Amino acid sequence: MRILLIMTGSIAAYKSLDFIRRARERGHVVTPILTKGAQEFITPLSAASLAEQPAYTELFSLKDETEMGHIRLARETDVILVAPASADFMASMVQGRAQDLAGAVLLAADKPVFVAPAMNVKMWESAANQRNLAQLKADGVRVISPAAGEMACGEIGTGRMAEVQEILAAVESVHVQESLRGKHALITAGPTHEPIDPVRYIANQSSGLQGYALAEAFALAGANVTLISGPTTLKTPFGVTRVDVKTAVEMMDATEKNLPADIGIFTAAVADWRVENAGAQKFKKRENGEPPVLRLVENPDILKTIAAHKNRPTLVVGFAAETEYLEAYARAKMQRKSCDWMVATDVSGGKSFGTATTSVLLLQGDAPAQPLLDVEKTAVAKQLVALAAQHFSSSGNVTAFPSSNLSKRKKA
Ligand SMILES: Cc1cc2nc3c(=O)[nH]c(=O)nc-3n(C[C@H](O)[C@H](O)[C@H](O)COP(=O)(O)O)c2cc1C
Repeated sequence: MRILLIMTGSIAAYKSLDFIRRARERGHVVTPILTKGAQEFITPLSAASLAEQPAYTELFSLKDETEMGHIRLARETDVILVAPASADFMASMVQGRAQDLAGAVLLAADKPVFVAPAMNVKMWESAANQRNLAQLKADGVRVISPAAGEMACGEIGTGRMAEVQEILAAVESVHVQESLRGKHALITAGPTHEPIDPVRYIANQSSGLQGYALAEAFALAGANVTLISGPTTLKTPFGVTRVDVKTAVEMMDATEKNLPADIGIFTAAVADWRVENAGAQKFKKRENGEPPVLRLVENPDILKTIAAHKNRPTLVVGFAAETEYLEAYARAKMQRKSCDWMVATDVSGGKSFGTATTSVLLLQGDAPAQPLLDVEKTAVAKQLVALAAQHFSSSGNVTAFPSSNLSKRKKA
């Protein structure tokens, strides 16, 4: 989940640094914004370092506003959290003020907004603050109530910011469009590593980004997601069950073990071959200078095996990375492997590997290809969620997405 975290001028700001750490441990991406007040308590550098994202502070920034940064920040998130929310900042929210970056972002927001107030007990109880709170609630802002107890100022009462775990739980419970609630999505991602000997392996350039984006999007749509992941450095998206594998044989095994599924999406770049005579010990350089000869043997074809499996998922979606004849090759692969849909990725010139953006053609049986060119991988993921939701809700209505394979199987 993407969380836009607005930190304001309260002594509790240090707790929000901890929030960033905890949220990231759970696979969320946190983008911090610090108001002027917040910067009296913590630095943008601390927030940025913990978030491993830039921390934003300025509305009138030449760099960020050339691309209308405040609108972009408001759009490119799943939820906005104001924590700590100072009394002053809540008052400006009530007035709809856009005098700084945080205010402008909130006015432009079309996502759920949470506030976690933190202030002295008398400030909390004050008539003005209570009026503001009531107005914020009426405006649809979700208030994560402060706790009672001893405060930084030494007084006792309500006003202490809610604990980090409580704030996380509230944000995570944000109502998602649960169009795929109860469906099991089985997704493979990343490369495989095929050992040459205990310290060397054959790999490929897959980063896993597309598969992880899909896992996150399907989980957000309410699906139970099992992500069979080859070696990557990516964090497990929130709510996703991840099974780590290294080789194609392990990936095949884990994928079969995790059937049945309603939808299987096969984004992993599975090595076609493994080394049959991989060394049990590290290969040593030879005196005569002759390199070892590696014999390759074909790996199991995961997509083909699962598409023909007795527990075949209702929808089988393959990915094809092609450098030329994108549509023709991908259509041929869709036929050959008996999958319902195919996402043809243009990897000419090394495009799409490890980058956040991609260009794909979505193929659904015989229907004309849907191009998604130069889009974020998250956009491809969202589109597949939308198509899957439409497919399952229309319970086999194949007119919207004609697919010869699909219609054959539905009749069977
Ligand atoms: C040491 C200190 C601690 C403060 N703690 C809080 C607090 O916990 N909650 C609050 O609402 N204001 C607190 N304030 C006051 C705010 O920082 C002040 O209203 C500021 O203008 C808020 O800025 P903002 O709108 O960027 O949040 C504190 C001020 C100081 C000097």
